[in-house]
Amino acid sequence: MKIRSVGIAGVGSYLPENVITNADLEKLVDTNDEWIVTRTGIKERRTAGEGVPVSDLCFVAAKRALEDAGVKAEDLDLILVATVTPDFLFPSTACIIQAKLGASKAAALDIEAGCSGFLYGLAVGSQFVATGMYENVLVIGAETLTKLVDFTDRATCVLFGDGAGAAVLRPEEDGKGILSLVLGAQGEGGELLQVPAGGSRNPVSEQTLRDGQHYIKMAGNDVFKFAVRTMGEAAVQSLEKAGLIPADVDVLVPHQANMRIIDAAVKRLGIDPGKVIINLDRFGNMSAASIPVALDEAVKSGKIKNGDTVVMVAFGAGLTYGACTMKWSKPEGER
Ligand code: UT7
Repeated sequence: MKIRSVGIAGVGSYLPENVITNADLEKLVDTNDEWIVTRTGIKERRTAGEGVPVSDLCFVAAKRALEDAGVKAEDLDLILVATVTPDFLFPSTACIIQAKLGASKAAALDIEAGCSGFLYGLAVGSQFVATGMYENVLVIGAETLTKLVDFTDRATCVLFGDGAGAAVLRPEEDGKGILSLVLGAQGEGGELLQVPAGGSRNPVSEQTLRDGQHYIKMAGNDVFKFAVRTMGEAAVQSLEKAGLIPADVDVLVPHQANMRIIDAAVKRLGIDPGKVIINLDRFGNMSAASIPVALDEAVKSGKIKNGDTVVMVAFGAGLTYGACTMKWSKPEGER
């Protein structure tokens, strides 16, 4: 069987309009703009607001990515949605999007790999295109984390925001598109970042609600250490697999969790900070949405150009990590 190369034929994103500033959070918890900016780099984040499910964000991002790719929804073969904030436990958000888009022949499933979800989605989706089983795969990374945040917990409520980004995968010429992928997990660290209640282990009860167990709980310091270690390592591994070194990188698109984590990874790689895409100051940590939103902005603003070597790297709940090296190109859609 001939394995095909796979490229990103189109990207799109959507950010809800409602903004939560650091000043807004100062009114809710004992925090201040200076602490948030110096410890995280975040100035504001978006919130989908009441009554707006994650699928609404996915839908707009998906439409924009399909338009950019020149691919019709009815020609999609597979829809993957990476999220930890699905509309429901089931059915999957991917199925909701499949119906909304009218992607009648597409299979659909959700992927749960925390903030590494979009890169896991790229990895899963690209296998189907590489083997020739499918031609058009839509990968969405989307979150409405502000719905899982405890707005009385200053250690987490300042960090997270809502948004969605999407990419359409298609076959590409050899040597272009995705050059390598690295995925990994350290499940023993799962308790460091979790929502303890709402699943089969701790179904929601009056007690779990009283204890706030349906909110995000995080041992920030430990996750920070994991992130600093794995971001650099995963990026280097991905480059090595592609036969490249950090000096070859034109653009780095890191998961946007904390500016200090990004700085440490960039230092470790020895990459010029000017090559790093940052939107964390405006959107906070959007988990699985952070990389595809940053990617979309970078492509549309011309920061990523054809022929560029692009590295995306992420870490997140699970614990998980992932990295992807691409030779940026735009495979033709089916106009
Ligand atoms: O995408 C994966 C998701 N997870 C992450 O990205 C988290 C990675 N971790 C981090 O980004 C950082 O660990 C945090 C930003 C969460 C915390 O920064 P830190 O430098 O690790 O701070 P810390 O937890 O060690 O806390 C230092 C101090 C503490 O006070 P004391 O005990 O020294 O008096 C905290 O209570 O800062 C306090 N603090 C705050 N102060 C003002 C914690 N949160 C806040 C806050 N405002 N929002």
